[in-house]
Amino acid sequence: MRDADGGRLERFSSAQVLSAKALSLAPVLTIVVPTLNERDNIEPLVALLDAALPNVNWEVMFVDDDSTDHTAKHIRALASVDARVRCIQRIGRRGLSTACIEGVLACSAPYVAFMDADLQHDETLLACMLEILQKEPVDLVIGSRYAAGGSLGAWATTRVHISQMGTKLARLICKQDISDPLSGFFMCRREAFESAVRRLSGQGFKILLDLLASSPRPLRLRELPFEFRSRRHGESKLDTLVVWEYCALLAEKLIGHIVPVRFIFFALIGIIGLAIHMSILWSGLTFMALEFGVAQSLATLTAMTSNFFLNNILTYRDQRLRGWRLLRGLFTFYGICGIGATANVGIASYLFSANQKWWVAGVLGVIVGAVWNYAMSSIFTWRVS
Ligand code: GDD
Ligand code: MN
Repeated sequence: MRDADGGRLERFSSAQVLSAKALSLAPVLTIVVPTLNERDNIEPLVALLDAALPNVNWEVMFVDDDSTDHTAKHIRALASVDARVRCIQRIGRRGLSTACIEGVLACSAPYVAFMDADLQHDETLLACMLEILQKEPVDLVIGSRYAAGGSLGAWATTRVHISQMGTKLARLICKQDISDPLSGFFMCRREAFESAVRRLSGQGFKILLDLLASSPRPLRLRELPFEFRSRRHGESKLDTLVVWEYCALLAEKLIGHIVPVRFIFFALIGIIGLAIHMSILWSGLTFMALEFGVAQSLATLTAMTSNFFLNNILTYRDQRLRGWRLLRGLFTFYGICGIGATANVGIASYLFSANQKWWVAGVLGVIVGAVWNYAMSSIFTWRVS
């Protein structure tokens, strides 16, 4: 019994266990599939899973981020005729990793697999992954593109280089010897995932690396080679911002316990804002012969606006504001930064008049202003939960 259910039934009475088994209601394996505009891949994927797992009680949990092509609706239509198909639809949220985390937490199977919807991962490995987890002392089986026998398929050379560099950088936060820490295709014991879940960063695309770096104990691993297939329908969501998100994951795991990574990004964008401010002020005075007050106001407005948009795209990419909420967010941001600037000047002037060195007063004023802007905008502009 321990093998099939991962030992989870031990605490129930034998009558309960027997009825659960007789009804055979509870899936042994949940395959968590994040989706963003993957409508045409859903049916083929479920058909492939059906063919690949004939002797396993499995379910597939799609986690869709409100795709504009109505992927979620499509999944639910399929779910109405196939009880193994389930769907979580998230509204106003984005992110492959957080989608995977929520998918696992919404189900109860003792084994969970992570797989892309676009048919690029080799579903025929799933049965073998499950058998290894059920029969051997292994916590995590990884589908590897870099293990002997695996391959990247038809990837452009630049993407191969980026992937290889990312794999090297992964060693900064994951000490285990593993050929493909950036794989998006793996299966693990639920306990292994649950023991790390509160420490997961959830940043970006790399849920496997996040899991490896967040686990309280080294996971017992096995790697199985597979060939990464080409996408048939839809488009890849991997863009340059995914690289930024990868940096966010690395930063969070390296220094996130000291300072929140969002704050670091916010502060870096603040420095860019300062550079923008100074160049506009200088150009306004030098080339346009503006009065100082006018040039300074123009510079402040431009810097605040560009900071708002940069933060919206980079710092808060996972909850980016759009449409009317974008406009509303911009005005709350102006208001908050206005108060932040007043606090900054007020505190710096007070410290300076209290005989602090000019640069100590200046730096402390900037820090107070930045912390205020960050804290208030995270509550009122981007509403971090
Ligand atoms: N819910 C949700 N939210 N799903 C998303 C999001 C998101 O913000 N972004 C992407 N997805 C889904 C896609 O719909 C797809 O099912 C899967 O996540 C992978 O996205 P792709 O856009 O196909 O990524 P890729 O093929 O370039 O990269 C994949 O393979 C790499 C190599 O294994 C990802 O799995 C990477 O994490 C992996 O490193
Ligand atoms: Mn893909």
